[in-house]
Amino acid sequence: MASEAGVLERLDNRVARYRFGLRLGEQGRVASVGDGIAWVYGLPSAAAEEILRFEDGSRGLVFELQAERLGVILLDPAANVTSGSLVSHTGERLEIGVGDALLGRVIDPLGKPLDGLAPPEPDGVCALEVPSPPIIARYSVSRPLYTGIKVIDILIPIGRGQRQLIIGDSGTGKTSLALDSIISQAGQQVNCVYVSIGQKRSETALVLDILRRHGALAYTTVVVAEATATPGMKYLGPFAGCAVAEGWMRRGKDTLVVYDDLTTHARAYRELSLLMHRPPGREAYPGDIFYLHARLLERSTRLAADHGGGSLTALPIVETEEGQIAAYIPTNLISITDGQIYLDGRLFAAGILPAVDVPLSVSRIGGKAQHPRIKEEAGRMKLDYLQFLELEIFTRFGTKLETGTAAKIKRGRLLREILKQERMSPLPVEFQLAWMIAYNEGLLDSLDPKELTARLRVLEEQVKGQLPSLDAGRDEWLAKLRSWLGPMT
Ligand SMILES: Nc1ncnc2c1ncn2[C@@H]1O[C@H](COP(=O)(O)OP(=O)(O)O)[C@@H](O)[C@H]1O
Ligand SMILES: [Mg+2]
Repeated sequence: MASEAGVLERLDNRVARYRFGLRLGEQGRVASVGDGIAWVYGLPSAAAEEILRFEDGSRGLVFELQAERLGVILLDPAANVTSGSLVSHTGERLEIGVGDALLGRVIDPLGKPLDGLAPPEPDGVCALEVPSPPIIARYSVSRPLYTGIKVIDILIPIGRGQRQLIIGDSGTGKTSLALDSIISQAGQQVNCVYVSIGQKRSETALVLDILRRHGALAYTTVVVAEATATPGMKYLGPFAGCAVAEGWMRRGKDTLVVYDDLTTHARAYRELSLLMHRPPGREAYPGDIFYLHARLLERSTRLAADHGGGSLTALPIVETEEGQIAAYIPTNLISITDGQIYLDGRLFAAGILPAVDVPLSVSRIGGKAQHPRIKEEAGRMKLDYLQFLELEIFTRFGTKLETGTAAKIKRGRLLREILKQERMSPLPVEFQLAWMIAYNEGLLDSLDPKELTARLRVLEEQVKGQLPSLDAGRDEWLAKLRSWLGPMT
């Protein structure tokens, strides 16, 4: 035990003598390089997340601090770093240029252009890793963020500053839903960021094409860490996208960020952690995998007016396998976010699109941001819908139904038709309210569900610009709706 005391004493002495500060004179050397990382010896005062500079001018990010050596993420893929290269401190943190110059641009997680244009000229910088705003700097979520998607705006509403998970198997429409939400922000004064993590180049090209065709790229920045990028770049992608949005948020702007997707992000982080010899935990993910996504998503918020007053709404996407929402990464994300939109493969196959499973989807805070008139109508609709879904199960057994039940099921089927929506066709919230009131008042009951979508579409064209405002009285709405729908029924 004497030796233990001796060790402790020596440690105490060293700690007492230690002076914090950067030792710019220190020089390190690269021991080995590979898979986008380097091991470096000899920079004892290096800090986590510090930027290091290699002999050839390229940069690295300190990721893993060990007693004798540093695990460093290489930030320049074309760098000429080899074992033996000299390394020095910079004392800097990783930052990205922010500002309106980034609108319409495609960049990598370090801010370099990927669209073949000149580098954007930012009017500020934001660090990729910052603490999330403290509680006193936040307002609670109280203003709506309209996605233009009926089933969401009505039944699972999202508020500005909310974190809403989009969850579902591959091919259930997660990316489509997120892109539709971005397209719907035209004219809503919301700047968007789409972060593409580990997708194939062809998939990202498709996303860009959709955004461009709908004029949505004009108010969007796309951050890409493609499938072939190093695990380090994929790990940084969401943090870069978040920082770009924060740049706007702190200047009072509302923003929407899509992380597509965090399953891939978690895998990249696992790969990086294994490369850096961090001990693997459950499913070989490192122990801090929850903290990784918690610290990213905590940065979505609505800032108080004296802290900038903007907001950052996050739509993280997580991909499940065989609908297993209870798997490790999905449950982590469900517990971090303020609600989830669950997309179901069976609904998708049955042509119920968007394939949102309403009973399994929730928005824990978005209801507070709903307009009171919409909230009132939506409440009635949601009850009807949930009741209908339960009743519909019985019809499968061929049970003879009472007349009341049969009528409820008929109305439920009508509602399901109303909530169906094609891709890339956001519906303004005034129309959503119109169809809600019409449904709740039974004005659509005599329509054939099969014809409903087409009829409503025609009507939407005819009465465009003639709708009352959301604040108008219910009677005014009803009178208008009766006059339009009267001839139909
Ligand atoms: N509301 C919708 N209506 C029609 N087709 C849709 C709808 N949503 C998604 N799709 C189609 O489903 C396919 C898969 O969608 P995608 O968004 O890529 O799924 P995920 O991101 O979940 O893998 C795409 O071909 C897309 O066009
Ligand atoms: Mg997708």
